[in-house]
Amino acid sequence: TVSEPKVILKADWSQIFRGETVTLSCQIQGGGGTQWTYEWRQNWSNIPPTSSEYRIDKVKDDHSGDYSCQGRSGFLLTQWSDAFRLSVSRKPQPVLSVSPSWLSPGASVTLSCEVKPPSAGWRFFWYKAKKYGSYSYELLPGSSNGTQQNSYIIHGQKHTAGYVCRAGRGESAFYSDYSEPSFVWSAAFPPAASLRVNPDRVQLFRSESVSLSCEGNSTEWRVKRFPETGHLSDFNCSTWGTMTGSSCIIKPFWSDGGVFWCESGSGEFSNAVNITVQDKDDGIILQSPVHPVTEGDPVTLSCRTKQQKLLSDVSFYHNNKLLQNDGREELKISAVSKSDEGFYSCEHSGQKSPQSWMSVQGEEASNI
Ligand SMILES: *[C@@H]1O[C@H](CO)[C@@H](O)[C@H](O)[C@H]1NC(C)=O
Ligand SMILES: *[C@@H]1O[C@H](CO)[C@@H](O)[C@H](O)[C@H]1NC(C)=O
Ligand SMILES: *[C@@H]1O[C@H](CO)[C@@H](O)[C@H](O)[C@H]1NC(C)=O
Repeated sequence: TVSEPKVILKADWSQIFRGETVTLSCQIQGGGGTQWTYEWRQNWSNIPPTSSEYRIDKVKDDHSGDYSCQGRSGFLLTQWSDAFRLSVSRKPQPVLSVSPSWLSPGASVTLSCEVKPPSAGWRFFWYKAKKYGSYSYELLPGSSNGTQQNSYIIHGQKHTAGYVCRAGRGESAFYSDYSEPSFVWSAAFPPAASLRVNPDRVQLFRSESVSLSCEGNSTEWRVKRFPETGHLSDFNCSTWGTMTGSSCIIKPFWSDGGVFWCESGSGEFSNAVNITVQDKDDGIILQSPVHPVTEGDPVTLSCRTKQQKLLSDVSFYHNNKLLQNDGREELKISAVSKSDEGFYSCEHSGQKSPQSWMSVQGEEASNI
């Protein structure tokens, strides 16, 4: 006796994405050495294939539907199989995360790539972004055939860099889209490129004009911004400032803060600076170092008004914990250590400044 045929999806995963190659197979149990020809239906209307396998290169949305098959051999005809439902989903979107997001010299950086919606069978491809906002990616070592693991560790990363990932699977090398770039930021001046901020602060009033200057061996500097919120398309100086020579001038009442850095024509990234904007003109800001402080060095933090008036009777906070409020104007640390790293903010008669990260680097790191 011949049993009812069955439509099987030949894949190790059940979720199929637009653009993938799909093979459906019609399986008939029993029937001995019967030479079958096959008939296929999609949504109950006949479709061309006559072999046991129906292969679709680059599936599209209208390949979704209910598939069934039947076998024929002379006068012998099987029943139609139960319908197999093929659903074709939009291309998956990988999401890359980078940890930590600010570099501590010598530490390794872990990239993790997650495909959304989740599904099986992926290999992961890892890239370094040569430029932010253009598809100029360089495959990272060891990932030309993809990695089975959805994480990748980078050792010895010293400077600001952007990364993207994508996932691929199947013999026809179907790829997801690229992820949005994710960054590991370095606040330390690299040898080839540096960004200086004038005024030399990480907290600025919205009504201030700011100049961001790129220094180093390049004629083609670009200042970029990774916005705190908002659109990834707002990354070029020209959308929120004016590029003159190697400086980006941001006029008063420019948009928002974010992480700023320079890119040279050859794709070198400078140190990064996380600028926070104080919206209120009568608010206060914390004055803290823009660049990492070297272990053992002294550091002074203060709290100021827009007119740069030094405030007294200030409370200073470290990682949201009160650190000092004894009437002194400044928070002085005579020799910083790694444990002083973290978020700082200040408070004066009910007004609170934004908080900013102070990074502390080892003595050897400052000689790189
Ligand atoms: C088959 O039906 C599905 C919905 O059940 C539809 O999405 C698909 O476009 C249909 N395909 C054709 C070729 O009619
Ligand atoms: C600047 O770049 C040029 C061309 O790449 C190179 O020949 C020169 O040595 C560089 N100078 C410095 C100071 O790095
Ligand atoms: C930049 O600083 C703000 C305010 O402290 C913080 O919320 C944000 O996470 C920082 N961004 C990065 C990339 O570290």
